Formats: sequence, structure tokens, C-alpha cells
Amino acid sequence: MAKQPMKQKQDPDTTGHEWDGIQEFNNPLPRWWLWTFYLCIIWGIWYVIAYPAWPLINGATAGYKGFSTRANVAADIAEAEAANAAINQKLASVELATIAEDPELSGYATSAGAAVFKTWCAQCHGSGAAGAKGYPNLLDNDWLWGGTIEDIHTTVSHGIRNEVDDDARYSEMPAFGEILEPAEIGQVANYVMSLSGTPQDAALAAEGEAVFLDNCAACHMEDGTGDRAQGAPNLADAIWLYGGDIDTITETVTNSRYGVMPPWSGRLTEAQVRAVATYVHQLGGGE
Ligand code: HEC
Ligand code: HEC
Repeated sequence: MAKQPMKQKQDPDTTGHEWDGIQEFNNPLPRWWLWTFYLCIIWGIWYVIAYPAWPLINGATAGYKGFSTRANVAADIAEAEAANAAINQKLASVELATIAEDPELSGYATSAGAAVFKTWCAQCHGSGAAGAKGYPNLLDNDWLWGGTIEDIHTTVSHGIRNEVDDDARYSEMPAFGEILEPAEIGQVANYVMSLSGTPQDAALAAEGEAVFLDNCAACHMEDGTGDRAQGAPNLADAIWLYGGDIDTITETVTNSRYGVMPPWSGRLTEAQVRAVATYVHQLGGGE
């Protein structure tokens, strides 16, 4: 049985469309809906004029209100900087050693320094500052170049072995592959392991002592405890920058190492350098 088409009260027009017996009424749009629709169009035109809208090749139309999220961020940053201007000024100008004595200043420096560290230092030293092979752990109290606030400040300001800063810390361990016989390198590597009590070949180590005193003690000291003036690591403490196994030590001695850190003065403000130096200083226990 064919369905009867549905009827409305006054049976108004249909659009004339019909599918499988279903017809479409041609009712006027509800008034409220139509006005909302017109209002949306008007609002849309206003929005396009007022705010950035049409994409152009380099950017977009600006809009008369001059709105920009970038400017909002810049304003927020400027506001934060203005709020911290006084304490940053103080941080940048006091004697380094007095920062720790002023709880307000050192508290500010430590938290500002932690933020600087996460942004600029973590990619090499690790987000927790524990370091990685070739990148020193900054949490322990074992320092290559010195752990006082002044030492750390100098290291961070000028960097290490970079070609950018004339005051960068500098030293170079020779590549002993060109100086010593492979047998001597084997002996001295075993001797280095003996310094920290790492299991080694005692006979080779005994022969390595003379090699060490002749070739290595000038930088690493006779007892192997290192020399901060030259950034020569302590070899007697079982804390390794590159590694304390026989293969890594042999590689270090044969080809040498050349750890590079960029300088930060110039890239960061003096207050930021001091903040991050304070942060690192308290991580390492603070000499
Ligand atoms: C590109 C990698 C890199 C970045 C980034 C970097 N460092 Fe270093 N840093 C090194 C290396 C490599 C050394 C060790 C150099 C050496 O062998 O003497 C080092 C050494 C140090 C030392 C000396 C540690 C000691 O035992 O004396 C300090 C302090 C230090 N970094 C702090 C920082 C701070 C703070 C930042 C961020 C502002 C930073 N570093 C960013 C690579 C980096
Ligand atoms: C001119 C100074 C100098 C001399 C001489 C020297 N070293 Fe070094 N040594 C360094 C420096 C500086 C480093 C750190 C290099 C770096 O971080 O890039 C280093 C690093 C090392 C390391 C890596 C330590 C670690 O924690 O991973 C070992 C091992 C080492 N030296 C052994 C020796 C031995 C063995 C000799 C002698 C055959 C020797 N060095 C001679 C300056 C020297």
C-alpha cells in the first residue's frame, strides 16, 4: 500500500522535490533563526575588519584593533621583567660571594637559574644536571675547573675551549698515540685504573707508574688528583667524564679529548649568568 504524503494544516507549497514518495515542504525559515543568521553575517564582517583575518603572502591583514598574540606575549614578558628589574639589577652588581648570604637574593637566583638551566644548559648537562659522557655531572662535588661561585661564574661566562671567547678556559691533553708506544699506553691505562682502585692488571699498572710520572703528572699531578687550573680531571676518584674502563681510557690517552662549552656572557644577561651560576653552585653542594 502506497504511503499518503504527509499534510500540513494549510497544506503549503512543496519544493517540487520528491524521493520515493517523500516530498519537501517549502516552509519559511523561523524568524529567530533567520535573524541569528543575519547577525552572524554582520558579526563576521565586523570581525574581518577588526582582527587579523585574510591571509596574505607575508602575514595577514592587520585589523583596525591592532590585535596580535605576539604583542600580548611581549607585553607579558616586559611586565615580568619590569617586576624583576630591581632584583636583577642587584643580582648583577653585588659581590658574587654575598649572593648566598642574602636569602631573598639567593632564593630568587636559584629559581631564576633553574629556568635558565632548563632552557640553555639541559641539552648538554641533562635536565637534572647529572651530565652524560663528555658532559660533566654538575650535582657532585667533583669539579674540573673549580666549584666556588667565582669559578663557576667564570666557566659559565666564558665557556671552555670554544673559539668565540678569548677568555674561554683552555687546556689541551696531547694525543699520546703519537708520543707513546701502544704497550706504554696499555701500561699507563692500567696504572690510571689502579689510582681509583678499579680492578686492573697489576703487573702492567706497576710498569705504567713511570710512564705516568713522565707524561701525565704535569697535568694530572703525581697522585693523579688532577689540576683545576688546567681542567685536568681527578683520575683517583672513580668519577669519570669519559669513562674508566680499559677501552675508554685507552681511547682517551691515544686520541685525547677536547670538551667544548660555549660562552654565555653576551647571550645571557649578567643577572641570568649569575642566577644559573648560583643554581649550579648549590646543586654541587657549593664550595
Ligand atoms: C654544547 C654543550 C654545553 C652546553 C649547552 C653547556 N655546557 Fe657546560 N660544559 C660542557 C662541556 C663539554 C663541559 C666540560 C668541558 C671540559 O671537558 O672541560 C662543560 C662544563 C661545565 C662546567 C664546569 C664543570 C666543572 O666540573 O668544572 C660548568 C659549571 C658548566 N658546564 C655549566 C654550564 C651551564 C650553567 C650551562 C648553561 C648556561 C652550560 N654549562 C651549558 C658543555 C655544555
Ligand atoms: C697537558 C695536560 C695533560 C696531560 C699531559 C695529560 N692530560 Fe689527561 N687530561 C687533560 C685534560 C685537560 C683532560 C680533560 C679533557 C677534556 O675534558 O676534554 C684530560 C682527561 C684525561 C682522562 C679522562 C678522564 C675522565 O674522567 O674520563 C684520562 C683518563 C686522562 N686524561 C689520562 C691521562 C694520561 C694517562 C696521561 C699521560 C699519558 C695524560 N692524561 C696526560 C690534561 C692532560
